[in-house]
Amino acid sequence: MLLPTLLSNGYKHLTHVEWSQSASLEMQKNLGEQSSQIDWFVGDLLNWRPDRSVDLWHDRAVFHFRIDSDSVNDYLKSLHQYVSQGGHILLATFHLDGPERCSGLPVKRYDSELILSTLNAYQSSNWVEVKAATWVHKTPSGGSQTFQYLLAQRH
Ligand SMILES: C[S@@+](CC[C@H](N)C(=O)[O-])C[C@H]1O[C@@H](n2cnc3c(N)ncnc32)[C@H](O)[C@@H]1O
Repeated sequence: MLLPTLLSNGYKHLTHVEWSQSASLEMQKNLGEQSSQIDWFVGDLLNWRPDRSVDLWHDRAVFHFRIDSDSVNDYLKSLHQYVSQGGHILLATFHLDGPERCSGLPVKRYDSELILSTLNAYQSSNWVEVKAATWVHKTPSGGSQTFQYLLAQRH
């Protein structure tokens, strides 16, 4: 899990955003005492208003639910409002070879080039790839889902 790794490496001002209260509470339970070092926002990511700029925005499978261009644009607006120049995004979506639906909902699938070009289509922003990787997630029911990860820096 990313949050405990960041905590143990001394990172501060961490916020977990999740609109499912039960999923948020489950994560808080899993983190035990460490959970008090994290801000917990239960609600839509696009309603989150951080009071400082964001150095690292990590999203595992929220962005990919945004399938029409207006919805993608709303997401990119928030991202660019809060992630500082020099800041990073670590974004995970289903890969082009991955499933067409997630939790029963349709998703947009990406490879790293498509994520990067989507980020850079927003008001001529300049994101530069740091690292890209695919990862096969084994679901509890025994299935496989290929994710595309991209770490990029905003220049
Ligand atoms: C694939 S799950 C990932 C769960 C967990 N973060 C992880 O990495 O294992 C995606 C999660 O995003 C949440 N989610 C989807 N859209 C969201 C939004 N707009 N705002 C906040 N949470 C959202 C869902 O409730 C779901 O728990």
